[in-house]
Amino acid sequence: MTKILLADPDPRTQTDLRALLTQRGFELDAAADVPAALEPLALGDVDLVLCDLALPGGGGMRLLEEVRALGGETAVVLLSAFGSVQDAVQAMQHGAADFLGKPFAPDQVLCAVDRALEKSALQKENHALRAALDDRLRLDNVVGSDPRMQAIFKTVKAVADTRSTVLVTGESGTGKTLLARALHAHSSRRKGPFVEVNCGALPESLLESELFGHVKGAFTGAVRDKAGKFEAAAGGTIFLDEIGTSSPAFQVKLLRVVQDRIVERVGDTRTIPVDVRIVLATNKDLEQAVRAGEFREDLYYRIHVITIEMPPLRERQSDIPALAGHFLRRFAAEHGRPPLQLTPAAMALLAAAPWPGNVRQLENVIERAVVLSRSPVLDAADLPALLPGRLPAAAVAAAAPTGPVGPLRDALASAEKQIITAALAHCGGNREQAARTLAVNRSTLFHKLRKYGIR
Ligand SMILES: Nc1ncnc2c1ncn2[C@@H]1O[C@H](COP(=O)(O)OP(=O)(O)OP(=O)(O)O)[C@@H](O)[C@H]1O
Ligand SMILES: [Mg+2]
Repeated sequence: MTKILLADPDPRTQTDLRALLTQRGFELDAAADVPAALEPLALGDVDLVLCDLALPGGGGMRLLEEVRALGGETAVVLLSAFGSVQDAVQAMQHGAADFLGKPFAPDQVLCAVDRALEKSALQKENHALRAALDDRLRLDNVVGSDPRMQAIFKTVKAVADTRSTVLVTGESGTGKTLLARALHAHSSRRKGPFVEVNCGALPESLLESELFGHVKGAFTGAVRDKAGKFEAAAGGTIFLDEIGTSSPAFQVKLLRVVQDRIVERVGDTRTIPVDVRIVLATNKDLEQAVRAGEFREDLYYRIHVITIEMPPLRERQSDIPALAGHFLRRFAAEHGRPPLQLTPAAMALLAAAPWPGNVRQLENVIERAVVLSRSPVLDAADLPALLPGRLPAAAVAAAAPTGPVGPLRDALASAEKQIITAALAHCGGNREQAARTLAVNRSTLFHKLRKYGIR
């Protein structure tokens, strides 16, 4: 049902409009001042606000600004008993859908309401179309419009239906596991199992029996025959994660499956053919591991047929807004919150962060902000992990005079110069960041840089 919020302090207007609009099948909510109006708005289910220009608690224009800041498609129609043409122009410029002078005829109100709702419905549709377009730039849940990600999606689509072995490399948190899943989901094997084994997490002996299975009596505790993960993945995909740390003996066995698609259960000499697609992942530089003699060269060439390299997040900054939006939507839904928005300041902070933990770190930062923030708009302060770090205490301590102290003014100036120099070094020469770290504004910092001749 379409919900209208009536934000007007006048009981008479409230009564009249309530009667008129409920009769037309609208659901009504009422508020007599700005704070009371913000409550239902924060829940995100108001379609239209009818708002008096002289609304107590800040005025109708203030409420209009708040509605716009929420970023949804809620339409606002301003009402005024004393409104001038100037007021009306100003309201429209700030995004009001309409402006009505009081007193108004019922028809006038209904007409304005219909028009405003129609306009916001069009805008919503527009957004939905844009979102659908965005979806075409992604692969299932893998977000990425950066050219390197788009090239990866192309590769995935091209090789999905083959049985070629695929190696996914990249730093931790870049999306290797997610991509392996997407590859399976896009292949003709999607109805088959997707079996994931973290080769780095299991001790060698266990890993072998886990992957290849064992027969009864093969080792203490092997009380019955057991099929391994390769057999379990028959008809589907097996994903071997953290392949870079495996032992030479294990690598020989792996070479055998990759090459011939056959396994031998531990303690058995029979060979079992397995129909699996093998996807492997590592965050190690395998080429270097080969040179260092830690990884078999023959295995490396076998698995290096199709290699997908996930770029670190810092090298695809253009994806950050879309990823942030994706996680905002997901966590808002998971935690039962209304749709959330990021302020431009928060977005700038996300765009500038170095992201050593890649997409996983971004995901964590957003989830924390969603869980802890009480407002539907997340600001820079909701991303404390990304705010410029405090200066290391040592840098400040070093600035304290050690020898005989001269006039206080000179001592302070010398300490100030050292602290500013340390802050600049700490922020890699970035003046804006240094100003934030020191909690002074940019012009103050610039003035001091000139004063002390720091460059
Ligand atoms: N392009 C992306 N779009 C959406 N979500 C992503 C993307 N890349 C990564 N993620 C999410 O980020 C988190 C980390 O990704 P994933 O586990 O795939 O990384 P990984 O490279 O396998 O890390 P590790 O090396 O630690 O195993 C996951 O929750 C994943 O869903
Ligand atoms: Mg992983």
